[in-house]
Order: sequence, then C-alpha cells, then structure tokens
Amino acid sequence: MKWRAASRRIRGIDRHGYWAAFFVLVLVSAAALLWLFDRHAPNRASVYDDPLLEFKYGSIGSDIDNGLPRRLLAALPRLFPEYLPDDDSPRDYRAFGLLMEPGRDLPIGFSRRQRFIELSGLNCAICHTGRVITPGHPQGQVIPGMPSNTVDLQAFFLFLFRCAEDWRFNPDYLIGKLDAEAPLDTIETVLYRLAIPLFQGRLLARKARLKTYFGDHPGDHPRWGPGRVDTFDTFKFDQFASLYHGAVIPDDELYGTVDFPPIWAQDKREGLSLHWDGNNDSVRERNFSAALAAGASAANLDAEKKRLFALMDWIASSLKPPAYPFPLDTGLAERGKALYARYCFDCHDFAGRHIGQVTPLAGIGTDRGRLDSYTRRFSEIQRDFTRGHDWAFTHFRKTDGYANMPLDGIWARAPYLHNGSVPTLAALLKPAAQRPSHFYLGDTAYLPGQVGFRHDRPLAADGRRLFLLETGKRGNGNRGHNGERYGTGLADDDKAALLEYLKTL
Ligand code: HEC
Ligand code: HEC
Repeated sequence: MKWRAASRRIRGIDRHGYWAAFFVLVLVSAAALLWLFDRHAPNRASVYDDPLLEFKYGSIGSDIDNGLPRRLLAALPRLFPEYLPDDDSPRDYRAFGLLMEPGRDLPIGFSRRQRFIELSGLNCAICHTGRVITPGHPQGQVIPGMPSNTVDLQAFFLFLFRCAEDWRFNPDYLIGKLDAEAPLDTIETVLYRLAIPLFQGRLLARKARLKTYFGDHPGDHPRWGPGRVDTFDTFKFDQFASLYHGAVIPDDELYGTVDFPPIWAQDKREGLSLHWDGNNDSVRERNFSAALAAGASAANLDAEKKRLFALMDWIASSLKPPAYPFPLDTGLAERGKALYARYCFDCHDFAGRHIGQVTPLAGIGTDRGRLDSYTRRFSEIQRDFTRGHDWAFTHFRKTDGYANMPLDGIWARAPYLHNGSVPTLAALLKPAAQRPSHFYLGDTAYLPGQVGFRHDRPLAADGRRLFLLETGKRGNGNRGHNGERYGTGLADDDKAALLEYLKTL
C-alpha cells in the first residue's frame, strides 16, 4: 500500500512537473515569438512623434511593395562606388543631390518599415524638400516643402539598376559584405538570402518596363536632371501598363518632364486647378496621386489612409513659404508692387481674378510636352485604377494649357516654368529669345541679383557634377510667357523693381 501511495505521489509530482514544464515552454515560446514578431514584424511602419520627422522619414505606403532592404540600400554606395557619378561629391547618396542629415543612414525622403526585414521606400520629402545656401547656412539650409532642387531621381534609379545588374548582386557576396560591416543574426541572414534575389528581380523588371527612360539607350528622351521628373509618363509603362491593353503609346505624349513644385500653403490652394497643367482642383487627389507616383499601390493607400490623411493635414497647416533670406530694398520693392498689380496680379495672386485657372497653350506659348503627356485616355485610366476606393479620383481632367499658379515663396522655386527651362526670374523677364539656351541645374548657391540658383558651372561647391539643361531638346523648350502682359517688355529699372517685389512673395 505504502509504495503505491508513494508512486501516486511521484506520478502526481511528475504530472505537476510536466504541466509546469509545459507552461514554461509555452511562455518562453510565446515570448520568443513576440520578440521575433517585433523584430521581424510582417508589416509595421516606423512612426515618428515629431510630424516633421514623419514628413522626412515616415512611410506613405510606398515601402510595402516597393521598398528595398534598408541595410542593403544604405550600403550600396559603399559596395558599388564605381556606379556613383564620376565627380568629387561625397561617396554616398549625396552624390545624387539627396539630403543626408547627421546620424541617419539614409537621406531625407526614405522611410522605414518592418516587413520581416527592415525596408525603405520613398516618401513626399524626396521631391518636396530643397536646399539653398543662405546667410548663416554655408552648407545649405534644408527647407521642407521647397522643390527638391538638387535631387536627381533618374540618376539615383539608374544607380540602383546598375547595382542590380552587377554579377556581385547575389546573396553570398552581399550578405558577406553586410555581415562584415555589422553582423547579421541567423534569422536576418536567412531572410536576406531569400530577399536579395527577389528584390534584384523586381529592380530588373522595373528597369525593363521603364526602358524608355531608364534603358541603356533611352533614345532622344532627354534626361530629367536634378529637381525634375516626368510626372505621368512612367505610370504608362509601370503601374498602369496593363490598363493600356498593349496599345502602342504615341511617342508625342512621352516628353512630360517637369520641375518639382513646392507644396507649401496647400490650404490656400484648395479649389484651384493645379498641377502644372491645372488638371485637378482637389488637394486630396493631388496628394494621393503623388503617393501612387512614389510607389504605393491602391491597396497600400487603403492600408495607410489614416497616416496619409494625418500627414496631409500637417502639410496643409504647417508648411509655409520661406521668407526671402537676403537683404531687401523695401523702397524698390514698393515700386515693384505697382507693376506686379498691373501685370501679374490677375493671373498669379491668391486674390487675382484668374488664379487657379488655365491659360490656353496658344496664349501662354510655353513648351507643350507636359501638356501633351496628360491625355484623356490617361485620365480615364486613373479613374478605373482608383474606382471603388473611397479616395477614388473624380476631379482629374484634360486641359488645354498651363495653370495660373500662386507665386508664394517664388524666390525658392527656381528654375522657372513647368519644365524648369528658365534659370532665374531675371531671365524669365527677358524676351524668350534672349533667355539662356544652356545652363546648369542642381546648384545650391544663390544669386540674389538674378533671383535663382547659380547655373554657370559644371561642379557644385560640394563636388557634385551638375546637369547641363539644353533647352533645344524636346520637352525642355524655354519659350513662352513672353510679351507685354508677361513683363518681358518692361524697362530695365522697372524690371529691377518688379524683381525686388517678387522676392517678398
Ligand atoms: C517622385 C517625386 C514626387 C514625390 C515622391 C511626391 N511628389 Fe508631389 N509632385 C511632384 C511633381 C513632379 C509634381 C508636379 C506634377 C505636375 O503637375 O506635373 C507634384 C505635385 C504635387 C502637388 C500639387 C502642387 C501644386 O501646387 O500644383 C501636391 C499637393 C503634391 N505634389 C503633394 C505631394 C505629397 C503629399 C506627396 C507624398 C504623399 C508627394 N507630393 C510626393 C513630385 C513628387
Ligand atoms: C495670363 C496669365 C498670366 C500673366 C498675366 C502672367 N503669368 Fe506668369 N504664368 C502664367 C502661367 C500659365 C504660367 C505657367 C507656364 C508654364 O509653366 O508653362 C506662369 C508661370 C510663371 C512663373 C513660373 C512659376 C514657377 O513656379 O516656375 C513665374 C515666376 C511667373 N509666371 C511670373 C509672372 C510675372 C512676374 C508676371 C507679371 C509680370 C506674370 N507671371 C504674368 C500665367 C500668367
């Protein structure tokens, strides 16, 4: 009897011990899973408490399907320095005019998201944050909302494509290099091993789809250069390609290069027909269309809607045009104000009669490339693509000219006209035939006398090779906005007064 009771007790202890062990095991595995889930979450964007940091480094959903592994992306300039521009710029992403802040591994405009590994995609700030040398800022002042005057997106993407084409772009080589920089743990190594071929495939497929602009022989489609991009044409070969059902896209509509616009004071722009051709009068649709351009899909936008709305509210209420930072002659500006009121106010002032309307091409006479790139067909496809989403596009329309836009902060928006074909305001006030036919884009040194960036040298002070914009190339034309009502016939002293006033806007 005794030994039976004892054995029952032992079995009991056994049973308890078994349950305790099991319980501990469950707890440990749950904690490990939670840790793993936290470290390698399937889909979680980094969130910043400071809205300015959210603007510069937050996610707009482009990183969900179009992000790149962050550690790899940050290391590429070190791994493939031979594909960086051949100049004296720093051997990192600053070589493409991207803006790096101290303590960050990637430039302004790059987000952070956990998707098993950490990814990074583009956000609004990559195209809408500029840099200009101002008094007290010899290295350049970073101005959120200003056009990204130095950023050469095309060169950046060409760099990524070249890296992806290189024979060394394989898991063994890249993981070895990353591990040597800072050890990867076992799980990261496994994930990177799976991810590298996947991302390589995506990059190469993208290059093939966009060969009109990124091919080895991009034909006579002029390069964009810093501060410019082709707004709508890449969609035709990428996100929207299947909706064209294999139709050949006429070459005439493929020269839509534009200068980045500013995105400050959006609250005052509601209801104005904007975008360069005035194709949309809804700020929200302009914002969502921008997020699609940055690489988010329609489903990603649904997923990130709340964040996007918060970001757009912040942009609308917080980004303001920067005050002119150089000395001003207020007496001269006062005299210029009268000229502005007489010639420019109606079309360009928030209180003007024609603000936010479209001046037909026949009247404005500027380059037609961007206007022709936005077609009726394209606007129908945009509707189809976004139908069924509660942010669906219903305001886009085909216009016959370019928009009369507000001129707030115009001093910081050089170069001028929709395609950036005129380097300074002084040049814009010259008759079209006397404007420079060639000039350099992407400098941050400022010319207060001419109101615009320096544009006469091939290398910037930071060693970056600048881009020679040739206005004779298709889409780059610098004519138009010319004649009596556009101020090009004013006497020199009147022009000086008008320029002085324009600095105050
Ligand atoms: C790849 C560069 C790029 C990115 C990224 C980008 N934009 Fe833009 N944005 C542009 C360009 C170029 C235009 C001018 C389009 C045109 O009319 O051809 C523009 C126009 C706009 C406009 C209209 C400005 C006006 O006054 O006409 C708004 C508003 C805007 N963007 C907001 C955003 C927001 C918000 C984001 C992020 C969700 C964003 N953009 C991301 C390049 C970009
Ligand atoms: C009839 C309307 C109209 C009048 C008058 C007019 N403009 Fe314009 N302006 C436009 C349009 C339209 C554009 C866009 C053209 C383009 O980019 O192709 C433009 C573009 C500009 C730009 C370039 C904006 C940028 O961000 O690049 C500046 C600067 C400008 N105008 C200044 C002036 C000044 C100064 C006057 C008066 C002397 C003036 N405009 C008179 C319609 C007008």
